[in-house]
Amino acid sequence: MKAWLEQPGFLSPYGTLGADLSYLLAVVFTVLFLIGWRQARRRRGQAHHVVTLWAMSAMLAYFVAYYVNRGLGALAFEGEEGFGGPPELYHRLFVPLLLVHIAVVSLGIVLAVYMIVLGYRTAVKRNGNRVLQPGRLSMSAGAFLKVLVGALAFSALLSAIRCHSVACYIVYVVGFLLVAFVLLVEKGIEWLIPDGERRHRAIGTFTMILYVLALLTSTSTYVLLYVIWPPTIGS
Ligand code: HEM
Repeated sequence: MKAWLEQPGFLSPYGTLGADLSYLLAVVFTVLFLIGWRQARRRRGQAHHVVTLWAMSAMLAYFVAYYVNRGLGALAFEGEEGFGGPPELYHRLFVPLLLVHIAVVSLGIVLAVYMIVLGYRTAVKRNGNRVLQPGRLSMSAGAFLKVLVGALAFSALLSAIRCHSVACYIVYVVGFLLVAFVLLVEKGIEWLIPDGERRHRAIGTFTMILYVLALLTSTSTYVLLYVIWPPTIGS
């Protein structure tokens, strides 16, 4: 699989098949999210639900496949980006861009799961359409603890199975901290925006903007890595 992904790609002079497929999928997912967002803005809750749910689920499945095949995250932490441009540009532009991209994508993945759960908790079906129900919506202390302990157990189990380096453990610790952070932020936002409908709209809009930012940063990283200079090592 790794050798297949490292074949020459079809989008740019130096891209690999893996990089090109990843980039194309990022474009497709973002376009689908934008379509889903437009449906929500037009008050077509059911269409929004279907498009967003399928696009998010496909994106999450893709991340799992990408992670299994290419060691997501750990590569960036171990400095194996294979950047072919000048070293100053690597440190001043590429690394900060990559870090912003990783931060945006990591938060985006956690928020995808969070938003799907929030969607189901807030929306009800009415006359064939889905509408958000106004009213106070809060997470019980029991549910809060269950999600936190579940995320901790999941990260500990996966890191024990897969990690052979400190960098890899760091990726899992950061992953768990992200979930804990989102849970704490949810508690804060519950206090700030107690109404579930308003919360879905506010965090949903933030999530959509985050995905647009993810596409912009991935486009820049792709151009720096595969369009301008030949990479020094395989990705
Ligand atoms: C990652 C997942 C999701 C994101 C990012 C998201 C985002 C949004 C945004 C931004 C809006 C407000 C649009 C506006 O008025 O400006 C919205 C509305 C809505 N969402 Fe979601 N959503 C997600 C998942 C879901 C799911 C899974 C459901 C249903 C189970 C759902 C049901 C709805 C409904 C019914 C509306 C109201 C549409 C209307 O105004 O009539 N959403 N969503």
